[in-house]
Amino acid sequence: MTPAYVIVFIFLCAYVSAVSSQLQIQENGKISVRIGTTSGCSDAARFMAQIRSTYDRFKDFVNYEFVPWGRTRRDENGDLVCQFRAPDCWANRVHRCALHMLEGNADAQMNYMECEFSPPYPAFRQRSILCAHAAGLSVVEMDICIRTRVGDDLEGPAEELSREPIAVINFVPFIVFNNSTNRALHLQGYRRLESVICFALADNETTGITHCRI
Ligand SMILES: *[C@@H]1O[C@H](CO)[C@@H](O)[C@H](O)[C@H]1NC(C)=O
Ligand SMILES: *[C@@H]1O[C@H](CO)[C@@H](O)[C@H](O)[C@H]1NC(C)=O
Ligand SMILES: *[C@@H]1O[C@H](CO)[C@@H](O)[C@H](O)[C@H]1NC(C)=O
Repeated sequence: MTPAYVIVFIFLCAYVSAVSSQLQIQENGKISVRIGTTSGCSDAARFMAQIRSTYDRFKDFVNYEFVPWGRTRRDENGDLVCQFRAPDCWANRVHRCALHMLEGNADAQMNYMECEFSPPYPAFRQRSILCAHAAGLSVVEMDICIRTRVGDDLEGPAEELSREPIAVINFVPFIVFNNSTNRALHLQGYRRLESVICFALADNETTGITHCRI
Protein backbone atom coordinates (compact mmCIF):
# COMPACT_ATOMS: atom_id res chain seq x y z
CA MET A 1 0.00 0.00 0.00
CA THR A 2 1.13 3.53 -0.66
CA PRO A 3 1.29 5.86 2.31
CA ALA A 4 -1.92 7.66 1.27
CA TYR A 5 -3.90 4.42 1.42
CA VAL A 6 -2.41 3.58 4.76
CA ILE A 7 -3.53 6.90 6.16
CA VAL A 8 -7.08 6.50 4.82
CA PHE A 9 -7.20 2.99 6.20
CA ILE A 10 -6.04 4.06 9.65
CA PHE A 11 -8.52 6.94 9.62
CA LEU A 12 -11.42 4.61 8.75
CA CYS A 13 -10.49 2.18 11.49
CA ALA A 14 -10.29 4.96 14.04
CA TYR A 15 -13.66 6.29 12.90
CA VAL A 16 -15.40 2.92 13.03
CA SER A 17 -13.97 2.04 16.43
CA ALA A 18 -15.00 5.43 17.85
CA VAL A 19 -18.56 5.02 16.66
CA SER A 20 -18.95 1.41 17.74
CA SER A 21 -17.35 1.72 21.16
CA GLN A 22 -20.61 2.18 22.95
CA LEU A 23 -20.39 2.26 26.69
CA GLN A 24 -21.88 -0.80 28.35
CA ILE A 25 -22.14 -2.07 31.87
CA GLN A 26 -19.41 -4.49 32.87
CA GLU A 27 -19.95 -8.08 33.99
CA ASN A 28 -20.42 -6.96 37.57
CA GLY A 29 -23.39 -4.87 36.41
CA LYS A 30 -21.52 -1.61 36.95
CA ILE A 31 -19.76 1.09 35.00
CA SER A 32 -16.42 2.19 36.29
CA VAL A 33 -15.58 5.85 35.97
CA ARG A 34 -12.03 6.99 36.60
CA ILE A 35 -11.60 10.73 36.92
CA GLY A 36 -8.21 12.35 36.66
CA THR A 37 -7.96 15.59 38.62
CA THR A 38 -5.40 18.09 39.76
CA SER A 39 -6.15 20.25 42.76
CA GLY A 40 -5.70 23.68 41.21
CA CYS A 41 -7.81 22.98 38.14
CA SER A 42 -10.98 25.05 37.83
CA ASP A 43 -12.43 22.74 35.14
CA ALA A 44 -12.16 19.88 37.62
CA ALA A 45 -13.87 22.00 40.27
CA ARG A 46 -16.71 22.84 37.88
CA PHE A 47 -17.09 19.22 36.80
CA MET A 48 -17.60 18.15 40.40
CA ALA A 49 -21.29 19.14 40.22
CA GLN A 50 -21.86 16.62 37.41
CA ILE A 51 -19.95 13.96 39.30
CA ARG A 52 -22.08 14.55 42.37
CA SER A 53 -25.46 14.52 40.61
CA THR A 54 -24.56 11.40 38.62
CA TYR A 55 -23.36 9.76 41.79
CA ASP A 56 -26.54 10.61 43.66
CA ARG A 57 -28.73 9.23 40.90
CA PHE A 58 -26.75 6.13 39.88
CA LYS A 59 -24.50 5.23 42.79
CA ASP A 60 -25.68 1.61 42.76
CA PHE A 61 -24.32 1.27 39.23
CA VAL A 62 -21.25 3.45 39.18
CA ASN A 63 -17.83 2.92 40.68
CA TYR A 64 -15.91 6.16 40.82
CA GLU A 65 -12.16 6.26 41.12
CA PHE A 66 -10.44 9.61 41.57
CA VAL A 67 -6.84 9.98 40.43
CA PRO A 68 -5.26 13.20 41.72
CA TRP A 69 -2.33 13.60 39.39
CA GLY A 70 -3.31 15.46 36.22
CA ARG A 71 -0.38 16.68 34.16
CA THR A 72 2.20 16.16 36.87
CA ARG A 73 5.63 15.22 35.53
CA ARG A 74 9.02 14.57 37.03
CA ASP A 75 12.12 16.69 36.70
CA GLU A 76 15.61 15.24 36.20
CA ASN A 77 15.87 14.47 39.93
CA GLY A 78 12.56 12.65 39.95
CA ASP A 79 10.85 15.46 41.85
CA LEU A 80 7.29 16.26 40.91
CA VAL A 81 6.44 19.27 38.78
CA CYS A 82 2.73 20.10 38.88
CA GLN A 83 0.54 22.12 36.56
CA PHE A 84 -0.33 24.69 39.24
CA ARG A 85 3.07 24.52 40.95
CA ALA A 86 3.97 23.61 44.50
CA PRO A 87 0.52 24.13 46.07
CA ASP A 88 -0.94 21.80 43.42
CA CYS A 89 1.66 19.13 44.19
CA TRP A 90 1.06 19.40 47.92
CA ALA A 91 -2.73 19.32 47.62
CA ASN A 92 -2.71 16.40 45.17
CA ARG A 93 -0.62 14.53 47.68
CA VAL A 94 -3.19 15.31 50.38
CA HIS A 95 -5.98 14.15 48.06
CA ARG A 96 -4.19 10.87 47.31
CA CYS A 97 -3.61 10.23 51.02
CA ALA A 98 -7.19 10.96 52.01
CA LEU A 99 -8.69 8.92 49.15
CA HIS A 100 -6.40 6.04 50.06
CA MET A 101 -7.50 6.15 53.67
CA LEU A 102 -11.15 6.31 52.61
CA GLU A 103 -10.81 3.38 50.21
CA GLY A 104 -13.92 1.20 50.14
CA ASN A 105 -16.16 4.04 51.28
CA ALA A 106 -17.54 5.58 48.09
CA ASP A 107 -19.82 8.05 49.88
CA ALA A 108 -16.94 9.38 51.96
CA GLN A 109 -14.64 9.67 48.94
CA MET A 110 -17.32 11.55 47.01
CA ASN A 111 -17.94 13.96 49.90
CA TYR A 112 -14.24 14.42 50.40
CA MET A 113 -13.49 15.35 46.78
CA GLU A 114 -16.48 17.65 46.66
CA CYS A 115 -15.11 19.41 49.75
CA GLU A 116 -11.65 19.84 48.25
CA PHE A 117 -13.05 21.25 44.99
CA SER A 118 -15.42 23.69 46.68
CA PRO A 119 -14.52 27.11 48.10
CA PRO A 120 -12.27 27.71 49.97
CA TYR A 121 -10.46 24.78 48.22
CA PRO A 122 -8.87 23.86 51.55
CA ALA A 123 -5.83 21.80 50.53
CA PHE A 124 -4.92 23.81 47.44
CA ARG A 125 -5.62 27.37 48.51
CA GLN A 126 -5.18 27.13 52.28
CA ARG A 127 -2.71 24.29 52.67
CA SER A 128 -5.13 22.76 55.16
CA ILE A 129 -6.43 19.26 55.75
CA LEU A 130 -9.85 20.50 56.75
CA CYS A 131 -11.64 18.18 54.30
CA ALA A 132 -9.79 15.13 55.56
CA HIS A 133 -10.70 16.14 59.08
CA ALA A 134 -14.34 16.60 58.02
CA ALA A 135 -14.21 13.06 56.57
CA GLY A 136 -13.32 11.77 60.02
CA LEU A 137 -9.72 10.93 59.15
CA SER A 138 -7.07 11.07 61.80
CA VAL A 139 -4.94 14.19 61.58
CA VAL A 140 -1.92 12.21 62.78
CA GLU A 141 -2.33 9.53 60.12
CA MET A 142 -2.83 12.15 57.43
CA ASP A 143 0.31 13.90 58.57
CA ILE A 144 2.29 10.67 58.42
CA CYS A 145 1.01 9.94 54.93
CA ILE A 146 1.79 13.44 53.70
CA ARG A 147 5.33 13.48 55.09
CA THR A 148 6.56 9.92 54.58
CA ARG A 149 6.94 6.97 52.25
CA VAL A 150 3.29 6.17 52.78
CA GLY A 151 2.47 9.14 50.57
CA ASP A 152 5.40 8.52 48.20
CA ASP A 153 4.06 5.06 47.48
CA LEU A 154 0.77 6.50 46.24
CA GLU A 155 2.52 8.45 43.48
CA GLY A 156 3.45 5.57 41.18
CA PRO A 157 -0.06 4.16 40.75
CA ALA A 158 -1.58 7.62 40.11
CA GLU A 159 1.17 8.43 37.62
CA GLU A 160 0.61 5.12 35.85
CA LEU A 161 -3.18 5.52 35.64
CA SER A 162 -2.82 9.04 34.23
CA ARG A 163 -0.19 8.36 31.60
CA GLU A 164 -2.39 7.07 28.79
CA PRO A 165 -5.38 9.38 29.36
CA ILE A 166 -3.14 12.45 29.42
CA ALA A 167 -1.45 11.30 26.21
CA VAL A 168 -4.71 10.46 24.44
CA ILE A 169 -7.32 12.78 25.96
CA ASN A 170 -4.91 15.55 26.96
CA PHE A 171 -7.38 17.23 29.28
CA VAL A 172 -7.95 17.61 33.02
CA PRO A 173 -10.32 16.42 34.31
CA PHE A 174 -10.10 13.30 32.17
CA ILE A 175 -12.74 10.58 32.29
CA VAL A 176 -11.99 6.92 31.59
CA PHE A 177 -14.91 4.50 31.49
CA ASN A 178 -14.42 0.79 32.22
CA ASN A 179 -10.67 1.09 32.32
CA SER A 180 -10.48 1.88 28.65
CA THR A 181 -9.25 5.26 27.43
CA ASN A 182 -11.53 6.67 24.75
CA ARG A 183 -11.39 10.32 23.78
CA ALA A 184 -14.86 10.42 22.18
CA LEU A 185 -16.48 8.98 25.29
CA HIS A 186 -14.49 11.29 27.50
CA LEU A 187 -15.87 14.28 25.58
CA GLN A 188 -19.43 13.02 25.81
CA GLY A 189 -19.00 12.34 29.51
CA TYR A 190 -17.47 15.73 30.17
CA ARG A 191 -20.44 17.43 28.55
CA ARG A 192 -23.16 15.21 30.00
CA LEU A 193 -21.93 12.58 32.38
CA GLU A 194 -25.37 11.73 33.69
CA SER A 195 -26.83 11.04 30.21
CA VAL A 196 -23.88 8.95 29.11
CA ILE A 197 -24.21 6.77 32.19
CA CYS A 198 -28.00 6.68 31.96
CA PHE A 199 -28.07 5.52 28.33
CA ALA A 200 -25.50 2.83 29.02
CA LEU A 201 -27.61 1.56 31.92
CA ALA A 202 -30.86 1.76 29.98
CA ASP A 203 -29.26 -0.41 27.31
CA ASN A 204 -29.39 -3.38 29.65
CA GLU A 205 -32.83 -4.14 31.01
CA THR A 206 -31.49 -5.80 34.15
CA THR A 207 -30.73 -2.32 35.49
CA GLY A 208 -34.38 -1.26 35.41
CA ILE A 209 -33.31 2.22 34.25
CA THR A 210 -35.58 3.51 31.49
CA HIS A 211 -35.87 7.29 31.30
CA CYS A 212 -32.81 9.13 30.07
CA ARG A 213 -32.57 12.73 28.97
CA ILE A 214 -30.01 13.83 26.44
C1 LIG B 1 -16.45 -0.30 28.91
O1 LIG B 1 -16.37 0.95 28.27
C2 LIG B 1 -15.58 0.96 27.12
C3 LIG B 1 -15.52 2.38 26.64
O2 LIG B 1 -14.69 3.13 27.47
C4 LIG B 1 -16.17 0.04 26.09
O3 LIG B 1 -15.36 0.03 24.95
C5 LIG B 1 -16.27 -1.35 26.65
O4 LIG B 1 -16.96 -2.17 25.78
C6 LIG B 1 -16.98 -1.34 27.97
N1 LIG B 1 -16.81 -2.63 28.57
C7 LIG B 1 -17.84 -3.36 28.80
C8 LIG B 1 -17.57 -4.67 29.44
O5 LIG B 1 -18.94 -2.98 28.54
C1 LIG C 1 -26.92 -7.15 31.23
O1 LIG C 1 -26.02 -7.09 32.31
C2 LIG C 1 -25.76 -8.33 32.92
C3 LIG C 1 -24.78 -8.08 34.05
O2 LIG C 1 -25.32 -7.27 35.00
C4 LIG C 1 -25.17 -9.28 31.92
O3 LIG C 1 -24.99 -10.55 32.53
C5 LIG C 1 -26.06 -9.42 30.73
O4 LIG C 1 -25.41 -10.20 29.75
C6 LIG C 1 -26.36 -8.06 30.14
N1 LIG C 1 -27.33 -8.18 29.06
C7 LIG C 1 -27.10 -7.65 27.85
C8 LIG C 1 -28.19 -7.81 26.85
O5 LIG C 1 -26.07 -7.04 27.57
C1 LIG D 1 -6.94 -1.86 33.19
O1 LIG D 1 -6.27 -1.99 31.95
C2 LIG D 1 -4.90 -2.19 32.06
C3 LIG D 1 -4.33 -2.30 30.65
O2 LIG D 1 -4.85 -1.29 29.84
C4 LIG D 1 -4.60 -3.46 32.83
O3 LIG D 1 -3.22 -3.59 33.01
C5 LIG D 1 -5.28 -3.39 34.19
O4 LIG D 1 -5.13 -4.59 34.86
C6 LIG D 1 -6.75 -3.08 34.03
N1 LIG D 1 -7.35 -2.89 35.35
C7 LIG D 1 -8.51 -3.39 35.68
C8 LIG D 1 -9.00 -3.08 37.04
O5 LIG D 1 -9.15 -4.10 34.91
